[in-house]
Amino acid sequence: MLRKTKIAVFVSGGGTNLQALIDAQNRGGITAGEIVLVVSSNEKAYALERAAKAGIDSCVIRRKDFDSQDAYEDSLKAKLAEYGVELIVLAGFMSILSAGFTSAYPERILNVHPSLIPSFCGKGFYGLKVHEAALAYGVKVTGATVHFVNEVPDGGKILLQKAVAIEEGDTPEVLQRRVMEQAEWILLPQAVQMVSEQIQKG
Ligand code: GAR
Repeated sequence: MLRKTKIAVFVSGGGTNLQALIDAQNRGGITAGEIVLVVSSNEKAYALERAAKAGIDSCVIRRKDFDSQDAYEDSLKAKLAEYGVELIVLAGFMSILSAGFTSAYPERILNVHPSLIPSFCGKGFYGLKVHEAALAYGVKVTGATVHFVNEVPDGGKILLQKAVAIEEGDTPEVLQRRVMEQAEWILLPQAVQMVSEQIQKG
């Protein structure tokens, strides 16, 4: 059997995308990789309980506990090295990573973003704000994107996208849920399997 790509999932909140990855792993949807570590930027993130229930190691590393971005990212890198992590998945991770960090893992960091990039993305567009902006603009179709992370916010190479319809009367919360159910929770496990396989094939 092939060795599995070691995956770290970075989270900050509810962790429904982490749960989608755990569920996919359990039902055999991610065979080329294995989540070995969950890193949270927030000690209160419910994602930590999801990790614990799944028997996955986790840790909390907060930017505010360090004097500099470099010191913060050195601590992240040390943790990743300790676990031999080969693929990093940002799943609702709200802390900023500098070019110094992203350039250390070229095409080894994935992010899920809740819109069709290049719409409603980049600095300031995260979580519910993305859906608020889509509704305020009046677009009729939105969706989700999984992309590689580089030094440009939401600017790395796109791997997968899926469109989701906006319906009459949508609130940001209703739309967020639909985008998760119809796009994010499907695309993210697919992308993780795809990239994990590529890493194994070298
Ligand atoms: C998800 O919708 C994810 O796409 C978004 O935050 C939410 C996290 O939910 N990420 C971003 O906006 C990143 N720019 P989750 O914690 O339940 O997975």
